[in-house]
Amino acid sequence: MTFSTKIDISKLLIENYTNHRVVKLSSLKEYFSEPEKVDEILKERGDITVYEYYEKIFEGEGVNLNFGLTILYPGKVGKEYFMTRGHFHEKKAAEIYVGLEGQGLILMQSEDGRVEWQPLDQNRVVYVPPGWGHRTVNTGKERLVFFFAYPSDAGHDYEIVRAKGFAKLVLEESGRLRLADNPKYVRARGF
Ligand code: PA5
Ligand code: MN
Repeated sequence: MTFSTKIDISKLLIENYTNHRVVKLSSLKEYFSEPEKVDEILKERGDITVYEYYEKIFEGEGVNLNFGLTILYPGKVGKEYFMTRGHFHEKKAAEIYVGLEGQGLILMQSEDGRVEWQPLDQNRVVYVPPGWGHRTVNTGKERLVFFFAYPSDAGHDYEIVRAKGFAKLVLEESGRLRLADNPKYVRARGF
């Protein structure tokens, strides 16, 4: 069956979505380099939403393209900008991101530990190659909104990133963006 759908940017959702996930700050504690600062924010502001996404997921025959819309809110934990957990695809599958609103970047890391990043802002298309872990970071003062699409059989591996982190942290220092080495990053068997 063919179909078309619309992104409603005022309501911030994508029609025909099958899955809506809201990711709260408390669930991201171990991903930030200063988890104790997460506790401070939780005390002051409660369990705020860091990001949410609406996704159209296909199940069944053939390789479809899952797609959706992510809204990543602005903020920082210490110097570190709000970000998504990040993941690898279980299969070597690429992904396309299209920036719709806001300012940010996609941090990418190959299995052998190379780190690259690309800006993500309005009308920019970013290609995440197969085999590269990826995390999105909101480096601006407004929400970052983007569209994504990836093969429906890709699968998500969150464990590698949860256990080892990315090799770089995305920080704001003296009002400027800086990619710093992640002191907790463990470079063992690739990634
Ligand atoms: O597939 C993707 O890369 C995106 O749809 C992300 O899943 C989404 O932005 C949320 O990030 P994460 O899956 O790392 O929590
Ligand atoms: Mn992905």
